[in-house]
Amino acid sequence: MTPDAGVRSRIGVLVSGRGSNLQALIDASQDGSLGASIAVVISNVADAFALERARLAGIATSVIDHRGYAARDDFDRAIVEELQQHGVGLVCLAGFMRRLGRPLLDAFPAAVLNIHPSLLPSFPGLHPQRQALAHGVKVTGVTVHLVTDQLDAGPIILQRQVPVQDDDTEASLAARILVEEHRAYPEAVRQIVSGRWRLEGGRWARGAGSEGGSSA
Ligand code: GRF
Repeated sequence: MTPDAGVRSRIGVLVSGRGSNLQALIDASQDGSLGASIAVVISNVADAFALERARLAGIATSVIDHRGYAARDDFDRAIVEELQQHGVGLVCLAGFMRRLGRPLLDAFPAAVLNIHPSLLPSFPGLHPQRQALAHGVKVTGVTVHLVTDQLDAGPIILQRQVPVQDDDTEASLAARILVEEHRAYPEAVRQIVSGRWRLEGGRWARGAGSEGGSSA
């Protein structure tokens, strides 16, 4: 089952680094346009700047260092416990640099989102902007998708295009994609929280005007 819209409006954000996408979600939450609140920010890296952004916004934070867990599932379970303690119904990965497994995906079915700086299924994994330049694509972009146990391969919620310029470097392309990321992530969360979209046959599709969704 896809969780109902009310539960989904309490978000947990998982981070590892600078947290600019987290900031976009914080801003949209604070100006009321997200339709959801951020209940907790969890980082696997103690000095991630993202934690500072959360603290400044008065959001609860937690550090769960993956190095403290011999098995990946135990790391997952610790994250699940923290998310559940904060009543989270929707999990947003925002620059979270660890693979997640069954314990988290089973605890939050069809309710874990990721943002990736390419038009998936092109260029999954590391350095997608570098991959885009190496292939000479003329258009790349950003994808927000549901997380499954396949890397960067879950149902696509939303995509935005970014043209590649002849003189682009990895850094300049990443910077232009990032601008679109900061629009796309809040928009995708709004879609989910609205309850008007649902999984149908493994694809994310607009439902027939009903609130709340069910998964296929
Ligand atoms: C973003 O490019 C995001 O798409 C990718 O990791 C980067 C995180 O950046 N998954 P930030 O921490 O949100 O600034």
